[in-house]
Amino acid sequence: MIKDIPISVQNLTMAYGGSIIQKDISFDVERGSIFIVMGDSGCGKSTLLRHITGQIKPRAGRILRDDIDIWNCSPDQLEAIRHSSGLLYQSGALWSGMTLEENVALPLQQFTNYSKSQIHDICLYKLALVGLTGAERLYPAQISGGMRKRAGLARAMALDPNVLFFDEPSAGLDPLSARRLDELILQLRDTLNATFMVITHELESIFMIGTDAVFLDSETHTMLGKGNPKELKENSPHSKIRTFLRRGEA
Ligand SMILES: Nc1ncnc2c1ncn2[C@@H]1O[C@H](COP(=O)(O)OP(=O)(O)OP(=O)(O)O)[C@@H](O)[C@H]1O
Ligand SMILES: [Mg+2]
Repeated sequence: MIKDIPISVQNLTMAYGGSIIQKDISFDVERGSIFIVMGDSGCGKSTLLRHITGQIKPRAGRILRDDIDIWNCSPDQLEAIRHSSGLLYQSGALWSGMTLEENVALPLQQFTNYSKSQIHDICLYKLALVGLTGAERLYPAQISGGMRKRAGLARAMALDPNVLFFDEPSAGLDPLSARRLDELILQLRDTLNATFMVITHELESIFMIGTDAVFLDSETHTMLGKGNPKELKENSPHSKIRTFLRRGEA
């Protein structure tokens, strides 16, 4: 069977000015997988997401999205790729002066020609998908941190992206809300056949939702390993990866 690969990263080198952040990164993300990006603070995880979503140009190497080289395609294609990337930033901010429905409506108003009533229906549907029916008219300050993350997810799904990118979803959440968010990610993957790329250092999340993973090393500035997190924990030849995945064990 031919694999369905919405993201292929090939020999990627990422740099800001003169400083190389990571080099020679290569991996494929399969459709329907939950792909975890791991590594120490500052190793370049958020930077990798910015590259894959077409916001930063690679110093070297290629990024394919559905087999299209995102820096060797038409401006229209690159624009379409950016819109098919549902992004939840690390800071995860919703617009505080807007209701949840208005937040989800924003990308639809900006980038589609849907009518007001169509947009209203889509917003209700996306908010229902993340369990926020009835909260449409609330403002971000009126809801819990976990609900804000879910509202951010609804907004990221507004334009029906083919991949959802989540930078540290559980940051700032209590353990129960973090697990609920993990369950929601699994549920959306199954019901929508969505593909997720998730940056997280939280072991419970990594093992609960991760089907695949890469580990970016901040010292050698390259990828140390890739694979299923449970297998990496047992069998990775790199002690750094095993130690990272066995934190907290006796
Ligand atoms: N816009 C920028 N210009 C220059 N350097 C940057 C820029 N953004 C990030 N960096 C640097 O690039 C490196 C990687 O940053 P990045 O934010 O991708 O790390 P990260 O793995 O996401 O870290 P964290 O786990 O703390 O979120 C860091 O050393 C950071 O200081
Ligand atoms: Mg980051």
